[in-house]
Amino acid sequence: MQAISEPPPDFVDEAIEVHSRTASTVSSTSDIFQLVEENGRQYPNYGIHWYGLPVDHGEQERMARQHEHYRVSEGLLHVPIAYPPQRILDLGTGFGEWAIDVADCFPSAIVTGIDIAPVQPSLVPPNCNFEIQDMECFWDQADDTFDIIHLREPILMIRDWPHLFDQVKRCLKPGGWFEISCTHLAVQCDDGSVLDTSFLRYVVERLRDASTNLGMSLDCPLHFAQYFHDAGFGAVQTSTLPLPVTAWPTDPQLRAVGEVEHKNLASLSWSIGLRLFREAYGWPPHKTDAVMRLLRAELCALDYHPYYNRSVFFLRALISMPPAKRGFADTLCVGRNDRDGEGLSRKRPQG
Ligand SMILES: C[S@@+](CC[C@H](N)C(=O)[O-])C[C@H]1O[C@@H](n2cnc3c(N)ncnc32)[C@H](O)[C@@H]1O
Repeated sequence: MQAISEPPPDFVDEAIEVHSRTASTVSSTSDIFQLVEENGRQYPNYGIHWYGLPVDHGEQERMARQHEHYRVSEGLLHVPIAYPPQRILDLGTGFGEWAIDVADCFPSAIVTGIDIAPVQPSLVPPNCNFEIQDMECFWDQADDTFDIIHLREPILMIRDWPHLFDQVKRCLKPGGWFEISCTHLAVQCDDGSVLDTSFLRYVVERLRDASTNLGMSLDCPLHFAQYFHDAGFGAVQTSTLPLPVTAWPTDPQLRAVGEVEHKNLASLSWSIGLRLFREAYGWPPHKTDAVMRLLRAELCALDYHPYYNRSVFFLRALISMPPAKRGFADTLCVGRNDRDGEGLSRKRPQG
């Protein structure tokens, strides 16, 4: 592995604070600000475990497109808070788009994004800041600090979910909310059009199998309810929606969703297997690349109707809350462009 993008030894980005006292594989501030290069992609150099996806320019474009899509179609936040939040934490903030947009929505709140990769912008709203921290370690954040903790698309990163949820609970204020949203990468199809011999099924099954073998299963959303219960959270609210994998639905809104997802998967196919298949199966990059090319060709050519399930879970740290103030909506769905008031209750894809 070759270290790249080395900053001056004393470089510390003003918007990014480094929490190097959390255990890590690196020892100095300058190491934390390096990325490592593998097969032409760049990865974080920080954290007790390796992360499965790159954090480079190509990934930034993918995340920006996905953020914009979620912002418009789902909104930024689903938790039913009844008073303006003061402190918000975004776990695995990536390039920081969500944290920045939420800071703009709640100017009186302080929004903190944490990540193992120093890839966030310097120009941010005054109430937004970023910290380099590994959320698989013990967090620096004090007990009972946050009104809202948020985690979106946590794939190929968490080995110990119960530990993570214990920390979420510790750092939430009494009555604070936790929201986690993720896409379950398992191919669904209601009309038999996705054959068992399809490359999509082949690739997704390999990804699920590899991630499970390596201890960071893509099936983690199936276990969240149990983990939440074990961590001592109250009732969980869940909203699960179909996410068409390509632009096959006839419904125009779902078709638009499928178009974005097709681009997302095409982009992801250049990165998601590189580390995973090497670690799980010993595949060299050219083998992963060959399989992914076949997948991309199939996605363009085939008339089939696959979808994934995408879920939003939100739950609350129990204990009494301040009474709701008059004038605030019960549910804040912040930043959503509500499509004809349809909100999250999207229709299932039609065959
Ligand atoms: C798929 S991106 C999601 C970005 C953002 N949540 C969003 O939805 O736009 C995942 C991010 O989590 C970060 N990450 C991975 N493992 C982490 C860890 N153990 N602690 C903190 N951040 C981590 C990665 O560096 C990457 O930026």
